Amino acid sequence: MTTMKAFPLLLVALSIFLCTARATTLDMNDLDFIPEVRQRAAFDSNDFIFKFQSVTEETPFGNLRTMFVNDNPALATLPGEGAAQNLVTVGPCAINQPHNHPRATEISHITEGELLFGFAEENGGRPFIGGNATKGQTVIVPQGVIHFAQNLGCKQAQFIASFPNRDPGTQTTASTFFRLPLSAIRATTGLSEKEIQKIMKSVAANLNPSLDSECAKRCGIKH
Ligand SMILES: *[C@@H]1O[C@H](CO)[C@@H](O)[C@H](O)[C@H]1NC(C)=O
Repeated sequence: MTTMKAFPLLLVALSIFLCTARATTLDMNDLDFIPEVRQRAAFDSNDFIFKFQSVTEETPFGNLRTMFVNDNPALATLPGEGAAQNLVTVGPCAINQPHNHPRATEISHITEGELLFGFAEENGGRPFIGGNATKGQTVIVPQGVIHFAQNLGCKQAQFIASFPNRDPGTQTTASTFFRLPLSAIRATTGLSEKEIQKIMKSVAANLNPSLDSECAKRCGIKH
């Protein structure tokens, strides 16, 4: 073989070497750059059978167990945007407070009891949509839409919320609003500082899931 003929072969060999070298220097935490084959390879039998472990929010009235990427890193190794799930227990007269998920639609399946799912759409959309969903039914919550799940009955309810995103994110509506500067809240609500402080204190003390006092009276629940 002459040098001239070997040159293209050398180029091919060099580019294969460079590509391989580049692949091995990929950071496994740099998820956007992992080819799907490698994502699947990173997912083994220890990772695909799991149970909800950590309780991320809990009050005497219910709790949220998450299976998000920070609880189970294997969720980040799934192809595409990954996945996440919540197991939510809503006690009698309790509410999973209004919130939205900025990065994912939610598909919620009710496994116990009955829950009022309510939605408030974006500006110009429908002001409120609500419906009672019972055990065995599924609710679809579009990405970004403010929603809540309220148990207006005297028995416990539970649902599993699934997200087609490894990190759907949660933004709680009331507490988010009261994180804004007092001047902005004052100008928006028309309330005095004293009135605002009172509401802020109450919102801060009313951790999620919280109780509806009227329902609690009806069901004879102490709070
Ligand atoms: C849901 O159920 C509650 C309690 O039974 C009831 O008061 C409410 O009107 C129902 N809401 C809708 C939208 O059907």
